[in-house]
Amino acid sequence: MSSSPVERTLVLIKPDAVHRGLVGEILSRFERKGLTIEAMVSRQMDAELADAHYAEHVEKPFYPPLKEFMTSAPLVALILSGDTAIEVVRTLVGATDARKAAAGTIRGDLALSNRENLVHASDSPESSKREIALWFPTA
Ligand code: TYD
Ligand code: MG
Repeated sequence: MSSSPVERTLVLIKPDAVHRGLVGEILSRFERKGLTIEAMVSRQMDAELADAHYAEHVEKPFYPPLKEFMTSAPLVALILSGDTAIEVVRTLVGATDARKAAAGTIRGDLALSNRENLVHASDSPESSKREIALWFPTA
């Protein structure tokens, strides 16, 4: 019998989602799926946190405008938990480029940009651990 690991994952509901009034819609999708909200806070990312959070991307050409966007206004950070939550949340969120994300996903249904794509979600157990430590040091 295969095991079903309960995992935790770090999600950011990005400034575009807050600005557009989509926080409730996005949280509702995660809740209806059966995921548990373990922690949640409204916070504005500063430059230092942006560089740490996106360490893998800081040298890429798209990073300066991404950093500008992510630090421009408050976002909502949360820890979600559940059975294989890391992969489940990535599936619900959809492909990075919202113009190409599948219908039925958060990005596919609600966004039309490769940058302002509403949600960040950890992509592996390693990034989940690292990102939760950055955003929720006591969790
Ligand atoms: P990435 O980690 O590749 O995507 P994901 O959020 O799906 O894990 O990229 C991080 C963010 O950077 C992405 O959500 C939006 C932004 N981004 C751009 O602005 N342009 C790009 O070409 C890419 C790949 C990402
Ligand atoms: Mg990523």
